[in-house]
Amino acid sequence: MSLSIRQIHPVFVGEVAGIDLSKPLAPDEVSAVEAGMDRYAVLVFHDQKITDEQQMAFSRHFGNLEDARGGNITKPEDKRLQVGMNDVSNLGRDGQPLSRESRVRLFNLGNMLWHSDSSFRTIPAKYSLLSARVVNPVGGNTEFADMRAGYDTLDPATKALVEDLVCEHSLMYSRGSLGMLDYSDEERAMFRPVRQRLVRTHPVSGRKSLYLSSHAGAIVGMPTPEARILLRDLNEHATRPEFVYVHTWRPWDLVVWDNRQVMHRVRRYDEGQPRDMRRTTVAGDAPTTAQVPTA
Ligand SMILES: [Fe+2]
Repeated sequence: MSLSIRQIHPVFVGEVAGIDLSKPLAPDEVSAVEAGMDRYAVLVFHDQKITDEQQMAFSRHFGNLEDARGGNITKPEDKRLQVGMNDVSNLGRDGQPLSRESRVRLFNLGNMLWHSDSSFRTIPAKYSLLSARVVNPVGGNTEFADMRAGYDTLDPATKALVEDLVCEHSLMYSRGSLGMLDYSDEERAMFRPVRQRLVRTHPVSGRKSLYLSSHAGAIVGMPTPEARILLRDLNEHATRPEFVYVHTWRPWDLVVWDNRQVMHRVRRYDEGQPRDMRRTTVAGDAPTTAQVPTA
């Protein structure tokens, strides 16, 4: 095995060399990538010219692919990519950039808020894998924040305060913070808030992290303004520049991140020009806390 990983940020993020993701991986390569993910939380692979099928095959080494239903407002007939692929481009089915007024475009702007993918699901995502097929000429960096560092550097009183808190996450909270407040009954049911622990422990490393996301809009048992101020403070702390890695995309980069350990956001770019980014998502295996039983 010729795989090697070099840390490229003071607190996290590894750059991987010596692997070809278009080919089936050997078991020792899979274990090395997984161990790298546990340690660095974000791995960067350059020059990986992969098809959607190859991206899905690589992703399945780490678990089942997440069912994308319930995570967006794009109608099935408007989807550009096959089932199993999450389209995080700015393109419509015709391959052209979405119009300014497109509701799908406006909804997708929520990806510019710090978040953890699928924190709005009862079983939230494990890994996300993002492949850059067409890079936008202006902006469009993706930023990652290490939520273990965010947790480790809290003062003891704040650690004690947040230890057992449970948040409510919904796409309606993140989009609501951008002023998108109108949803159909069907969307409201689909985006019903779910509960997540605010502090979670990584199953392999045992490290604790803050499980923050712009989808978090409430804390169980706390008045809403108090909860939101606390969440804002924690977000501000956890996304301080020293905990953030900025990824400037090159075509055919593949970046893999562990949603249990990092938050991420995309920065603004020229929406008149294409940005074709394709994500696969590896499903998590357990909820972070019990849900409220529904009648
Ligand atoms: Fe995301």
